[in-house]
Amino acid sequence: MDAGPAIDYTRPETYERTRRAVAEARTLVRQAYVCEDFFALERERVFGAGWVAAGCVDTLRQPGDVQVVDIAGRSLILVRGRDGVLRAFYNVCRHRGSRLIEDGDGNVGRFIRCPYHRWAYDLDGRCVGTPLFTGSDIPVDQQAIFATDHAAGFDRRDYGLLSVTVATFGPVVLVNLDPDPEPLAVHLGDLAVRLAGYRLDDWRLARTRHYHVAANYKLIAENFMEYYHLPWVHPGLVRVSPLDAHHRWQGSGMYSGMCTSPIAANTENGGWQDLEPLPGLNPDDAVSARFIWLFPNIALNVMPNHVFLIHATPTAAGVTEEATYLLTRPETADDPDAQHAIDRLAAFWDSVNREDVAIVERVQKGLATTPFPGGPMCYRFEEPVHRFQNMVADRMVGLRRVPPGDAVPDTPMFVEMNALK
Ligand code: FES
Ligand SMILES: [Fe+2]
Repeated sequence: MDAGPAIDYTRPETYERTRRAVAEARTLVRQAYVCEDFFALERERVFGAGWVAAGCVDTLRQPGDVQVVDIAGRSLILVRGRDGVLRAFYNVCRHRGSRLIEDGDGNVGRFIRCPYHRWAYDLDGRCVGTPLFTGSDIPVDQQAIFATDHAAGFDRRDYGLLSVTVATFGPVVLVNLDPDPEPLAVHLGDLAVRLAGYRLDDWRLARTRHYHVAANYKLIAENFMEYYHLPWVHPGLVRVSPLDAHHRWQGSGMYSGMCTSPIAANTENGGWQDLEPLPGLNPDDAVSARFIWLFPNIALNVMPNHVFLIHATPTAAGVTEEATYLLTRPETADDPDAQHAIDRLAAFWDSVNREDVAIVERVQKGLATTPFPGGPMCYRFEEPVHRFQNMVADRMVGLRRVPPGDAVPDTPMFVEMNALK
């Protein structure tokens, strides 16, 4: 089925129904999920011009560790320098433009070397060698034929790798392709303060998984931020994350937040309680699960004893590559006795995530093969979806603003409706 009549996706009128108050609003136009023209624009306006999650800090701990990532269709290299600084560069050689590193991660040692004519770059991006310079692999008796002296005005200091703004928030690596990026603190809003007690910088990566998802990344995000589907899609999860323990946890920032408090004990299907909790948590954090979707593309599930990240990389309107990262306290990650519990936890999250992947792929099919005209949203369950869709709409029309949060913290979601807005 084609995408329907041409729509200008940068005009405010396109989002008029999504702009209404939650109870009167309709979901984004279906083209936002299925149309490659929308996707191409969204790639520039959302992913090419703001903070975007790019990976997990713990895959880049050692000097020389690199990861190649796709952000808005640009290939970037994330690399840890010998000085301990994490940097990001466009994955392109300054000589004649070869891709420097193929996809994936690993360790490059002391230099990033171009496979074409063997230019070498320091981990900090400086061009340190055309073949004749220090570090050359060219035997001395053959160096004369590779001389570049005749290249007028050539100074390798002018040919360092093209850098990209990078920052971290706890275990999350974020990049920003905007040449004049807003501070990450503006994007995060109050999230860093809300999550400060968890000391997120300290957690260590214990397990990673990848999923190929035949759905738009926004369907993954929207599914993540509503509890409506829990009883039917996640019969195991709902037992350790009961509906009546669900609260809003929404401050100002480019994120949606909710929490389960108190979290429940494990069931025979697994749960969250197998590992020792982080010591020193405040009484609220110690019994709560925080569920954050940081716009545009990463989920942070923060528990007293582990953190689970779901990182979505859209590659087409209906295709998303997903990486999940299970992190634990440093003592737990290295403890041989904890490995079985970590495996159990990873299996639990994997089964929950597979349930989510299956259902969002089904939504994608529904949107892609029908004239679906947009659906309603209810405040109790879907205000976060409304919040997220309006963030997308803002970026598409060129608006930059950070939405406010709740006046009252921790509003229970399953109280009488008249207690809610
Ligand atoms: S293109 Fe990289 S060394 Fe020539
Ligand atoms: Fe779900």
